[in-house]
Amino acid sequence: MKTTNEIDYMKLPVEQRPLCLSGKGVTRYFGIGSKVTKAVDHVDFEFHKGELVSIVGESGSGKTTLSKMLLGLLGITEGEIFFEGKPRDISTRKKKQEYWKGIQAIFQDPFSSYNQFHRIDAVLDDCINMRGGKNLPKEQKDAMKTEACSFVNLKYAELTNKYPFELSGGQMQRLMIARIFLLRPRILLADEPTSMIDACSRATILDMLLNLRNETGMTIIFITHDIGLAYYISDSVYIMEHGKFVEKGPAEDVILHPKAEYTKRLISDVPKIHEPWDLSTV
Ligand SMILES: Nc1ncnc2c1ncn2[C@@H]1O[C@H](COP(=O)(O)OP(=O)(O)OP(=O)(O)O)[C@@H](O)[C@H]1O
Ligand SMILES: [Mg+2]
Repeated sequence: MKTTNEIDYMKLPVEQRPLCLSGKGVTRYFGIGSKVTKAVDHVDFEFHKGELVSIVGESGSGKTTLSKMLLGLLGITEGEIFFEGKPRDISTRKKKQEYWKGIQAIFQDPFSSYNQFHRIDAVLDDCINMRGGKNLPKEQKDAMKTEACSFVNLKYAELTNKYPFELSGGQMQRLMIARIFLLRPRILLADEPTSMIDACSRATILDMLLNLRNETGMTIIFITHDIGLAYYISDSVYIMEHGKFVEKGPAEDVILHPKAEYTKRLISDVPKIHEPWDLSTV
């Protein structure tokens, strides 16, 4: 595996690295006429390679709508998305599948992310197949699956014959990260991935995501309500209110020197923000 030191762009400051995903005037409206909801309203963004970006906003601010557009699961009303500097083209099924090799997601609800009738072994095999490893010898596939499981502190040998519904919530969330370890997307979109688990597993999952970013140089787009958590893990923070970005920039600037009233309000809801973070309470 290439380590961070070998990935040249990871040595550069985030804003000098090549662009991974960017957008101009990206907009999504739902409904028509007087009943229209401006879920995402002309947002601009520039995410760089290996950058950890958090998108923070209250419920209904448009975070999931934006993430579905980024994933190509929801059409864009106006504006354009660029993938690695070029206009994104997902006009055919084939192009979409190619795009999904580059971008993967983990969602709020791990239970909905798996085909419950596929054994875990098959879930992980699918990842290897997606990366072109369909014809690899069985021993090599087993070694890859074992490595991926041990990366997230799961024991592959104990899981092979189980079904996703036989795992605990925390184990399922770790299995999602093992999938990402095998898929190696260039971008990982994580929509509140730790919402279902206890504080201790939550810190572990976050550490695993950070390790994965450091080892693979993937860009992580982290979507959360929690501005304190965003400060703790991110290079950059985008603050979203009513479908617009009201503030964006390096995490330190945005959170320690907020300009927008909305950001100030979000911060005032987090009493511990200026204190050093204790991982056990994250
Ligand atoms: N399919 C849809 N049809 C109509 N309106 C929608 C649809 N999806 C989302 N919306 C509306 O768009 C707005 C943004 O919703 P979205 O799910 O993006 O918010 P969110 O920031 O992800 O919220 P949460 O933090 O609760 O997950 C809301 O007003 C929502 O009601
Ligand atoms: Mg959401």
